[in-house]
Amino acid sequence: MKNSFRIFTRLGGVRYYAAFGSKDLKIDGVKDVIAVASGKGGVGKSTTAVNLAVALASKCQLKVGLLDADVYGPSVPMMMKIDQKPEVTKDMKMVPIENYGVKCMSMGFLVPSSSPVVWRGPMVMSALRKMSREVDWGNLDILVIDMPPGTGDAQLTTTQTLQLSGALIVSTPQDVALIDARKGITMFSKVQVPVCSFLAQIISSMV
Ligand SMILES: Nc1ncnc2c1ncn2[C@@H]1O[C@H](COP(=O)(O)OP(=O)(O)OP(=O)(O)O)[C@@H](O)[C@H]1O
Ligand SMILES: [Mg+2]
Repeated sequence: MKNSFRIFTRLGGVRYYAAFGSKDLKIDGVKDVIAVASGKGGVGKSTTAVNLAVALASKCQLKVGLLDADVYGPSVPMMMKIDQKPEVTKDMKMVPIENYGVKCMSMGFLVPSSSPVVWRGPMVMSALRKMSREVDWGNLDILVIDMPPGTGDAQLTTTQTLQLSGALIVSTPQDVALIDARKGITMFSKVQVPVCSFLAQIISSMV
């Protein structure tokens, strides 16, 4: 107990939570959860998450889900060419919408693209919980999470409340992007999530 307390005070409650409550964090039927993240915005997280999910489904024949955790700026509806609302099962779970062999869930399915989501942190956290746990994912080999930029509430909630198998950090090679990418790596290491890949994108033309 003394040791547990020491870990708690040294590294903060985040790590304590991740280390001791992780067995309860699994989503039923989902084998592995991978977060595609970066501290910086606009570096290609969503592009990477979408391509990774589609490639895992089509080339590796895996059962794949894609959760768009970017509540304020969801990209998955457009990138996955989905323009419909999810149905709800009898036990009040949302049914993910499938395209390119990937089951997708996004705030963009629920809110018109022209309406900004003007929510405070607790509402975002509640939405993230609903979009991950109150969804009828079925059996998935892997759930890819397209994370929002930064290392704030939404990122911490996702890493604390889902049992992540690993994180893939995306950055561009510029110093300003790498500084924030390092912050992202530090956040994941604090909650004991292994960073399994680092992808440095060279975005040559932003047209
Ligand atoms: N490898 C690439 N080469 C060229 N353009 C790219 C590449 N990857 C992403 N882009 C483009 O860069 C822009 C930003 O990409 P994307 O939306 O995936 O970034 P993001 O990190 O998810 O952004 P945000 O932080 O706003 O969610 C998009 O226009 C996308 O098409
Ligand atoms: Mg994005």
